[in-house]
Amino acid sequence: MTTEPDIKKGLAGVVVDYTAISKVNPETNSLLYRGYPVQELAATQPFEAVAYLLWHGELPDEVQLAQLRTLERSYRHLPADVRAVIDRVPIDAHPMDEVRTAASLIGARDLAGMGSVLDASGSAEENLARSIRLFAVLPAIVAYGQRRRRGLDPIEPRDDLDYAANFLWMTFGDVPEDVVVDAFNRSMILYAEHSFNASTFTARVIASTLSDLYSAVVGAIGALKGPLHGGANEAVLHIFDEIGDASNVVPWLDEALAHKRKIMGFGHRVYKRGDSRVPTMKAALDTLVEHYGRQEVAELYDKLESEFVSRKGIYPNLDYPSGPAYNLMGFDTPTFTPLFVAARVTGWTAHIMEQLASNALIRPLSAYNGPDERHVEGYVPDE
Ligand code: ACO
Repeated sequence: MTTEPDIKKGLAGVVVDYTAISKVNPETNSLLYRGYPVQELAATQPFEAVAYLLWHGELPDEVQLAQLRTLERSYRHLPADVRAVIDRVPIDAHPMDEVRTAASLIGARDLAGMGSVLDASGSAEENLARSIRLFAVLPAIVAYGQRRRRGLDPIEPRDDLDYAANFLWMTFGDVPEDVVVDAFNRSMILYAEHSFNASTFTARVIASTLSDLYSAVVGAIGALKGPLHGGANEAVLHIFDEIGDASNVVPWLDEALAHKRKIMGFGHRVYKRGDSRVPTMKAALDTLVEHYGRQEVAELYDKLESEFVSRKGIYPNLDYPSGPAYNLMGFDTPTFTPLFVAARVTGWTAHIMEQLASNALIRPLSAYNGPDERHVEGYVPDE
């Protein structure tokens, strides 16, 4: 008699390893980065300081932050050959394909001349330098992509601006008011890290083979693209566009649920009573609604949330407030998930370095349920 294997579909509920980078506690609805509640970080820190925290385990002092900022500014420019390759990506390809391709080329340039795959995984110092390089150049890639699709010339980075303000400058050609920069900075911090989510786990799987950090990030970008993960922030805006305004929420939802549609921006594998990041991002969205005088956005948001939660008991995740927030800031809908990449690259790279610091090849087992052993017709075994 064979015993049924204990399958954990989707690895649900499986604890794979320790991590010191973040702690998700669905019971208390909290998320800590290196021990700090994420809402406290979002309210007080620039994104560069949170990147430092994720990589080093401590918030930077003034000198450390200044050093990171100097390095970040030195890598902000989009190299001409990377720009040329982006230009070869079809203009109607999804921007995530553009970002994935550009990140891959950044890696190939950086690792050029490496003799053997045996050297790929790199030292801790090399991987920190690679992480900073990707962190610094991704805003230029994302901003260039949005401007390219709009038929606009690229904008060079400005050394006098911090990360968030410079990102907005390179995308829009002006620096919006503080309230917008602050909301954008908060969104980057909230998106930065979330333990063993699908894209981070993908990065760790790739790193565990002793491949290189860039390959792990490129794989993670692929995982993030899916609408069950990062692609949901874009999908939320599609839903908002379909619904139109708050008065249409009820009939739209009746129809959507009758067709068993998934309502993007709701639900979470870990949080079942609400995503810990939502209140902070919702507060940022509220400031944007106020700033731009777009009350109808908040009405639609609130109505869909209350209707869906009361019918299904499934709560919004971070993508729900961030989608409309990025829309109000002026980002095109397909650019939303690339923004998530620019933020999450900090968490991915922190996890890649943590994985390598005490590596074990990630290789789970499967239970076979295909045909019984059979043989190719005409095959005659060698004597
Ligand atoms: N809309 C409608 N029904 C939903 C939703 C939703 N957003 N989320 C879950 N459900 C329902 C499922 O249909 C399922 O119902 P059933 O048992 O009757 O079949 C039940 O709730 C359980 O759903 P699963 O998808 O099995 O739950 P899981 O924990 O695997 O899913 C997930 C989590 C994938 C995030 C899911 O909630 C979902 O697809 N949400 C929409 C996509 C989304 O917003 N993703 C962003 C995730 S957060 C982030 O990346 C920042």
